Amino acid sequence: MNLSIDSIVKRYRRATALDSVSLELEEGLYGLLGPNGSGKTTLLRIVADVLRPTSGEVRLDGVDKDRLGGQYREVIGYLPQEFGLYKEFTVIDFMLYIAALKGIDRRSAVERSHMLLEQVGLEGMEKKSCGKLSGGMKRRLGIAQALLNDPKLLILDEPTAGLDPEERMRFRKLLSDISGQKIVLLSTHIVSDIEMIAGELILIENGRLIGSGTPEELLEELRGQVWTAKVTEEEYGAFESALLNTNASAHPSARIVNVTRKGSGIEARILAEEQPLPGARPDEPGLEDLYLHCFKSKYEGRRGD
Ligand SMILES: Nc1ncnc2c1ncn2[C@@H]1O[C@H](COP(=O)(O)OP(=O)(O)OP(=O)(O)O)[C@@H](O)[C@H]1O
Ligand SMILES: [Mg+2]
Repeated sequence: MNLSIDSIVKRYRRATALDSVSLELEEGLYGLLGPNGSGKTTLLRIVADVLRPTSGEVRLDGVDKDRLGGQYREVIGYLPQEFGLYKEFTVIDFMLYIAALKGIDRRSAVERSHMLLEQVGLEGMEKKSCGKLSGGMKRRLGIAQALLNDPKLLILDEPTAGLDPEERMRFRKLLSDISGQKIVLLSTHIVSDIEMIAGELILIENGRLIGSGTPEELLEELRGQVWTAKVTEEEYGAFESALLNTNASAHPSARIVNVTRKGSGIEARILAEEQPLPGARPDEPGLEDLYLHCFKSKYEGRRGD
């Protein structure tokens, strides 16, 4: 199966939310990564067929989704970012209701609902009313309902928002269990949620695709640009103020990723094309570094907060 996202543009009255985004997806797990307002939800809503693009096409195996119509909807499962539940429904009634909307016959709906609720760890909660679920449980129910029709294309918008660390772990396992013969496209800004499982990362900023590839490929580009330096507090202070000073020319592109206190000194993780401080050692790049490297403008915009 192949999904082509071809030159998608979405304009709102004032903003251009997507500016000619093109992607080719095959079976596997794709992590859509980008800061707030970068266009992730807009792109996912277009692929989920709930929002029309201003221009461009989405094709499944070469056929425009608008031509496929109902057939296209049958193969997709979608968890929206703002996922509404009917509070008065019980968990099982909600699943059966969504199954009915998807045209699944009652018998297989009951069977599949129980199977999926177990898979997402909501077994025993069937009779609980949706209004009484915790945030994490609601998310899990959202994932279960998206899987009802055994979709070949699964679209999850921030599926891990509101999950605690244990639930995140369970979610990662769930996704690697189900992603076999599917295209899974999920958005997040929590890099560690997809670090282990995403086959490919898609980086988006201001409605534009700024990079894509396997985590290894993307990280390779950063090799030699990630440094750790053990310094005294004074040295660190001097380095930081030099960076904040816009006239500083000594380290034009250096950025601090992370700072930890180590005994009486400080260990800083720094992104820089050249050795940023005497004694700084090159280190293995990770996805957090990549995120900061790619979304530099947003990060720097936040700095003055
Ligand atoms: N209905 C709308 N009307 C006008 N502008 C919109 C509308 N929906 C989204 N936008 C704008 O489009 C841009 C992309 O928004 P989008 O929700 O796709 O971003 P996002 O990457 O999902 O952000 P977040 O990480 O906060 O969920 C933003 O500038 C947003 O303000
Ligand atoms: Mg969003």
